[in-house]
Amino acid sequence: MEEREYNKYRRRLRAFLKKYGNAYPPEVVDFIKACFKDSVENIYDVDILMQVKQAIGVKYDKPSYYEAHLQKIMENFDIGCRVVEIASGRFPALANLVATEQLKIGKGTITLYDPLLINMEPEYPNMTIKRKHFSHKTNIKDYDLLISTMPCRITDAILETAAENHKDFYVAICPCDHFRKPLGPEELGLYQQYEADKAAYLTHKYNNGQIIVDQLPDEYEIYTPIVYNKR
Ligand SMILES: C[S@@+](CC[C@H](N)C(=O)[O-])C[C@H]1O[C@@H](n2cnc3c(N)ncnc32)[C@H](O)[C@@H]1O
Repeated sequence: MEEREYNKYRRRLRAFLKKYGNAYPPEVVDFIKACFKDSVENIYDVDILMQVKQAIGVKYDKPSYYEAHLQKIMENFDIGCRVVEIASGRFPALANLVATEQLKIGKGTITLYDPLLINMEPEYPNMTIKRKHFSHKTNIKDYDLLISTMPCRITDAILETAAENHKDFYVAICPCDHFRKPLGPEELGLYQQYEADKAAYLTHKYNNGQIIVDQLPDEYEIYTPIVYNKR
């Protein structure tokens, strides 16, 4: 990246941290500052950095990770409905994009669940922030579509509650191994396969449409499965 462009993003990062820095734990701010320079070179990175880069508008030769997911969600679902995003992250990068699109089409709401969301007011009138854990006990009857990217240990609960309540869902499985007893590097990929199989099994069992197992286009070099249902 050219120095001029990098300096532009660095100025934007400074403004972002001026606005939101106090809402992050200090060690996370240190991490963002320390890793930002390397991170702007790569479209795919740790979620915390991708969220910040989305917020300050770092551009690549293709849509960002969140823009690519938004595109896929919109290709497959009408987002002018009651969307809930589970495990939004510390900064609501994907949810902000969804809220913006909903405002453009004049319908739809988005509710966020993540205990680590920074303490901020929603910046969109159609957004509700719940700084809380999502679980099997969370009442999802008032939502139409569950979305989530890299939901780590809460993936099972999302897939199960979506199927049991006959809700539409779109989940990009986490690249890590979230088995209770991780299997080790030689078995990488088994966790992702397990979750994709589980989504297929539950979708069939609860007659919740047809399961689609997909991934982002090859150019992203992100080969973790995305699972969603189609009616
Ligand atoms: C790898 S991050 C992904 C964040 C975001 N979706 C993204 O793609 O940038 C996983 C997130 O899951 C959240 N999480 C873990 N357990 C959760 C739960 N029970 N309910 C809601 N969020 C949870 C964590 O707080 C964390 O922010």
